[in-house]
Amino acid sequence: MKVLILGVNGFIGSHLSHRILTDTDWEVYGMDLGDNKLTGVIGNSRFNFIEGDISINKEWIEYHIKKCDVVLPLVAIATPKTYIEDPLGVFELDFEENLNIVRQCVKYNKRIIFPSTSEVYGMCADQAFEEDTSHLILGPIRKQRWIYSCSKQLLDRVIWAYGERHGLDFTLIRPFNWIGPRLDSLETAKEGSSRVVTQFIASLVFTQPIVLVDGGRQSRSFTYIDDGIDAVMKIIRNENSIATGQIFNLGNPANNCSIEELAHKLLDMFKSHPAHRLDDAYSEIIIQDADSFYGESYQDIYTRVPSIKKAKEILGWEPRVGLDDALKKTLEAFLEEVSRGNG
Ligand code: UGA
Repeated sequence: MKVLILGVNGFIGSHLSHRILTDTDWEVYGMDLGDNKLTGVIGNSRFNFIEGDISINKEWIEYHIKKCDVVLPLVAIATPKTYIEDPLGVFELDFEENLNIVRQCVKYNKRIIFPSTSEVYGMCADQAFEEDTSHLILGPIRKQRWIYSCSKQLLDRVIWAYGERHGLDFTLIRPFNWIGPRLDSLETAKEGSSRVVTQFIASLVFTQPIVLVDGGRQSRSFTYIDDGIDAVMKIIRNENSIATGQIFNLGNPANNCSIEELAHKLLDMFKSHPAHRLDDAYSEIIIQDADSFYGESYQDIYTRVPSIKKAKEILGWEPRVGLDDALKKTLEAFLEEVSRGNG
């Protein structure tokens, strides 16, 4: 099988490439702006990488959509701080550029696995979000945070319609706060624009305060990347077309945890880490209001728990890595990076 991964150097793309090359005989064709997360993958004879930009290198992309069996367009801005700072950039990249890819999959009759997001459920009040019944609840237009959710939701709807009307073979996946090594970077965290786990780890490494936005009562169901990749592999294999035309929440409801609890867990793990047990000082945990942390056009999501009934029944998938283990592995990987001098 030939798999095209756009955004192959990203968090999901790099882990997925690694898994494909380790567990299968498939070939990967990948494009990204850089290759810093592809150590151990670059150089493999079944990995074909080109440095490029999806908004520029369109001929390469079209040629490879024709050539490959399945397409994963993973290029997107996915950090809330950027939704506020550059909403049009989010729309142009996450929506417009990806729409071109979707249309080419329709044109060349190729299977697409598209990353939707847990964010499409927005402020849904359901205790556990269901793919086919939960309502998708967004805030007012002036709250630009929702432009990401809205862009992704519209693409979900467009892909669904192409499936119904033009026979597009698709699966929509909704990752719920996947975490692990290489999630964002400590560099972006220095500017305050990483997702929360990396942000907190960076605060610990640089002995900066850990900021609980609005007190940290919000919760997320953190999911370890290896579990997420297990599900994506089943979806790529798509035995008996089980995943075709389906939407799957890929998250770990058992790992639901408040941001405040997350901060304390990471602080405790950092303090007991052999390399930091004897540090002179540690980060303090402080509270800041959302308007001053993100800007006025931010709005938070307070609860976000996936129902994973569908993924269990159809894919036979269940996440296995508990929260403490997932956080330890993620922290350890970042600390190793720092000790190698890449932090
Ligand atoms: C994320 C991103 O939108 C996407 O990466 C993705 O589609 C989706 O959710 C997902 O991964 O499932 P969110 O969970 O809000 O959204 O992003 P984080 O930046 O990780 O924030 C999580 C929570 O921590 C928020 O409530 C935020 O206010 C809080 N936070 C963040 C803090 O309290 N302190 C910080 O320093 C950073």
